[in-house]
Amino acid sequence: MSALAVRVRDLTKRFGDVIALGGVDLDIPTGQVHGLVGPNGAGKTTLLGLLLGLSRPTSGTLEVLGNGVGATVPDGVAGFVDAPGLYPSLTARQNLTALARLRSGRTAPDVDALLDRVGLLDVAADPTRGFSLGMRQRLGLAAALLGDPRLLVVDEPANGLDPAGKHQVHRILTDLAADGATVILSSHRMDDLAALCDEVTLLAEGRVVFTGPIHKLVTESGELDYRLVTADPVAAHRLAAGTPSLRVVARHGHPVDDRAIVVRGPEPAVDDLVRRLVADGVAIRELGPVVPPLEAAFLALTGSGGAA
Ligand SMILES: Nc1ncnc2c1ncn2[C@@H]1O[C@H](COP(=O)(O)OP(=O)(O)OP(=O)(O)O)[C@@H](O)[C@H]1O
Ligand SMILES: [Mg+2]
Repeated sequence: MSALAVRVRDLTKRFGDVIALGGVDLDIPTGQVHGLVGPNGAGKTTLLGLLLGLSRPTSGTLEVLGNGVGATVPDGVAGFVDAPGLYPSLTARQNLTALARLRSGRTAPDVDALLDRVGLLDVAADPTRGFSLGMRQRLGLAAALLGDPRLLVVDEPANGLDPAGKHQVHRILTDLAADGATVILSSHRMDDLAALCDEVTLLAEGRVVFTGPIHKLVTESGELDYRLVTADPVAAHRLAAGTPSLRVVARHGHPVDDRAIVVRGPEPAVDDLVRRLVADGVAIRELGPVVPPLEAAFLALTGSGGAA
């Protein structure tokens, strides 16, 4: 078996004039939790749908679990994009049981174990018609887990989940990867992805602008804006302006507040400024990035504007 769970080469997907994916290359190793992130319309759902065989590429190649994705999805691949499809008049248990029979002839006890795993055992006998978004997401995940997938592909699986539910879903995903399966998910939450994923791929306008470990995302984006509050803003401004590779982007008194200045530069330059402040006896009260580094990296690399 291939060491790659997903191998994508020069993948293009058009919808009429819209280029949803424009020449995507991507390798995802087996056993990873891999996050897809990017602005609205970047192509995340399109890519996940292609991996699940829900639509066909315009051009390019797509292999999952060592097999080309064609008219049928290779065995061992499961998941959902957008909202998971459910029968509204059936209960949660009936929905899963029906799916289990369709797919693999599994019996009810497995279904209850799965419902328990996603935290829905208490509402197993309720029709899914009345389910909240979070409950639907959980049931969709349970449905995807029915066949013990080797590759799980899920679009915003934590969307609509309360904090406990999100934790539960994250746990399920990391457990799957620990058992050797590969998980690919999309999310808009950089902090969630940082906590969950081995690697992330950042898409913007149908192209891969970054793929790799999330900590590299921050270092690759380079400069950040830092807000600095000292006991002497005038001195701080003078020292910051004299520090190589550092720029003062907001002056004392404007626009953040009257004690703060904002400096822009790479981390070592900020370290340099701290040493200068200390040497001059200027007390530092607060120093930190204006925008959390992951979000700043996202904004910088997707060209969405912002601090960095
Ligand atoms: N079935 C479709 N018909 C026409 N255009 C589509 C279709 N599906 C997606 N698109 C277009 O393709 C582009 C990528 O959409 P996609 O849904 O993959 O983005 P996304 O990254 O999942 O966005 P979001 O963060 O909003 O979920 C968008 O411009 C979208 O309008
Ligand atoms: Mg989407």
